[in-house]
Amino acid sequence: MIKVRFPIVVGVLIALGLLAAPAVYRTALAAPAHIPEVPAVAQPGNAAEAEAILNAKLLVCGTCHGAEGRPKTTSTPIIWGLQENYLVKQLHDFQKGDRKNDVMNWMATALTQAEVAPAAAYFAKKSWPARSTPVASAPAPAAVAVCQICHQQDFVGGLPGPRLAGQGYEYLVEAMRRFADGERTNNNDMTQIMKAMSPADREALARYISSL
Ligand code: HEC
Ligand code: HEC
Repeated sequence: MIKVRFPIVVGVLIALGLLAAPAVYRTALAAPAHIPEVPAVAQPGNAAEAEAILNAKLLVCGTCHGAEGRPKTTSTPIIWGLQENYLVKQLHDFQKGDRKNDVMNWMATALTQAEVAPAAAYFAKKSWPARSTPVASAPAPAAVAVCQICHQQDFVGGLPGPRLAGQGYEYLVEAMRRFADGERTNNNDMTQIMKAMSPADREALARYISSL
């Protein structure tokens, strides 16, 4: 029953295959990722089926974001323990295309509108994963004082800005570059702040924040 209505499991296997495919094939094969997923839905009023479908979708998230909350690749962020309001906003932004990423635009449109809030709550309630390998400590650049106005003391996050502490270096530095280069446009403050910084300053910040 669920299998028939659940093309995303097949979809994610294709997506994972794509990630491993040589770059030369990737461009041509990536095209289907732009087609919005038609979300699997339960029969109206069938709460048990709705729950089973959502749980199956959340399992798919774990194939990249990690079943224990530790992402499988350095370009994939930790989502366990992120602020709920932030998770809701990102999923909506991915659904609408306000934040662009082929895989996540696809994954987010696999969720129905009604599933976004429970999916966000599910990951927000999880604990931030412990580190599997130690990270060398790095000095704090002076600019951290500005960042912490929104990302809060020690970058643990809150309503004005998401948690960054312990997020991977590669993800952080790339997220900052995308704001700076105008590729990620879903927050004006971040665009302005990152445009005003040099790549070397961003790297030093990412190094420090990932060591927290
Ligand atoms: C095929 C791998 C893959 C799957 C499956 C996947 N994600 Fe992602 N996710 C990513 C990558 C890669 C990014 C980083 C996107 C970027 O760089 O903008 C990401 C980013 C995110 C973000 C933004 C986090 C942040 O710190 O800004 C959220 C939220 C998220 N994913 C939630 C989910 C949910 C919920 C699911 C399941 C419905 C899911 N993802 C399934 C790979 C995946
Ligand atoms: C005025 C408030 C504010 C300030 C100051 C600020 N940020 Fe942000 N930052 C945000 C918000 C809000 C977001 C989430 C944007 C969105 O909706 O995608 C964000 C997102 C980010 C992200 C992406 C997080 C992710 O998981 O994808 C990074 C990295 C980041 N900020 C780094 C910094 C650094 C480094 C500084 C200091 C130089 C800084 N920010 C200063 C508000 C702020």
